[in-house]
Amino acid sequence: MTGKTAAPKRILVLNGPNLNLLGKRQPEIYGLNTLKEIEAAMRDAATERDFELVAFQSNFEGQLIEHIHKFGWICSGIIINPGALTHYSIALRDALAAVPAPAIEIHLSNTAAREEFRHHSVIAPVSLGTIAGLGPSGYVLALHYLMDFAGTEESQQGDSS
Ligand code: DQA
Repeated sequence: MTGKTAAPKRILVLNGPNLNLLGKRQPEIYGLNTLKEIEAAMRDAATERDFELVAFQSNFEGQLIEHIHKFGWICSGIIINPGALTHYSIALRDALAAVPAPAIEIHLSNTAAREEFRHHSVIAPVSLGTIAGLGPSGYVLALHYLMDFAGTEESQQGDSS
């Protein structure tokens, strides 16, 4: 017995600019699945394990940041595909660093195999890990990882409750 409270069974999924266009946006790079389909697969996987999934997409940096502020203390993990914000948004990075929920950075495409400007992520250093290039499966893998992680001692570190 640790006497600590259980992590909330809630995962936040954030998608940044242009990811609302999935399915019709450069399908040779991003595939044919829509964001709704990806979120539905995640919601099924979460529900099976009794987790709530809060999914939000925005083309506006500030709205993503406000979701991190709102849920960063009341969820057990964040899955984020920041889109192009990955490569330059210090504000998004600072928001993720400010909250206790661990984040996993996701990219549908293998950013390391693309243009040079996509090789650098300002989000990676404040993330638990990154999954890139595995398409929609990356989101589901990250979800299972965070649901497992939510039950571990490590996830409770820094939790003073
Ligand atoms: C992306 C990769 C980014 O470089 C790009 O700006 C995106 C999508 C991906 O999922 O592969 O919008 O995050």
